[in-house]
Amino acid sequence: MSKHLAVGSIEGARDAVAKAKQRGLSIGLVPTMGALHAGHVSLIRAARLETGFVVVSIFVNPTQFGPQEDLSRYPRPLAQDLAVCAREKVDLVFHPDAGVMYPPGFRTFVEVGGLQDVLCGKARPGHFRGVATVVLKLFNIVQPDIAYFGQKDAQQVRILEQMVDDLDVGVRLRICPIVREPDGLALSSRNQYLDSDQRRQATVLYRALEEARRRIENGERDAAVLDRAMRERILAVPGATIDYAAVVDAVTLQPLDPLQGEILLAVAVQFGGTRLIDNLRLEIGKR
Ligand code: PAJ
Repeated sequence: MSKHLAVGSIEGARDAVAKAKQRGLSIGLVPTMGALHAGHVSLIRAARLETGFVVVSIFVNPTQFGPQEDLSRYPRPLAQDLAVCAREKVDLVFHPDAGVMYPPGFRTFVEVGGLQDVLCGKARPGHFRGVATVVLKLFNIVQPDIAYFGQKDAQQVRILEQMVDDLDVGVRLRICPIVREPDGLALSSRNQYLDSDQRRQATVLYRALEEARRRIENGERDAAVLDRAMRERILAVPGATIDYAAVVDAVTLQPLDPLQGEILLAVAVQFGGTRLIDNLRLEIGKR
């Protein structure tokens, strides 16, 4: 592994990126919180294909965790993550300490009104404010041409798209498909919290979404019916608590009935203390 792969300071990251730009390379950024898995790797590979200098940020961002959430126990296997980045030919890993990103006196936050308060935002107040703020900071530090995000976090994607539009941020966003286990479970750093029973039960998120998709393909257009079908499927699993199961407009994230255009089926389910999310985006033509 190159000993220059990782930097922790903002100046270090800026210098490395400036040198790459001088060499005429385009810059790709993959923001992560580490504990890298195949979902993250799919973003790194997309960046590697499309840009000349690939930056991966690894930062467990405290401002996006609520007081009762898993900030302290969030996995931080840094050596392993650096090995993954080296294997994937990442050019630079930016892994700052919290004090570097949020020095004493920090007081500016990005809010994306409306979009941040629905779905996951209801159970996680302040979460998307933390996400938007740290991502804008990462954009300002790295100044990438293209930044890569996963559709896994559909609401995060919508919020970041809106932020980039509203604040004239000169970064293109590339949204990559959800990477799943063979049984359908979407890869997530939080899957490692699940015990073996919960791991088996966790496929219900994907199964509920697929059931709703099948019903839509068979002509169902009533959001309440789809909502109920997803809920019943999830409630049939012992130990699963529904946070939400929703059919919303993919752009506004608001409920819509009847279904039309770009829609998002989204679910959040708790297994013990572990909260998992999944979604499916569909286009419904006018009939
Ligand atoms: P994290 O959960 O580490 O995810 C980093 C990126 O990987 C996100 O864009 C996420 O959508 C993507 N990702 C995660 N699981 C995926 C999967 N199964 N398939 C495809 N992509 C997947 O999301 C965050 O970190 C943070 O909120 C961050 C944007 C880094 C800001 O702190």
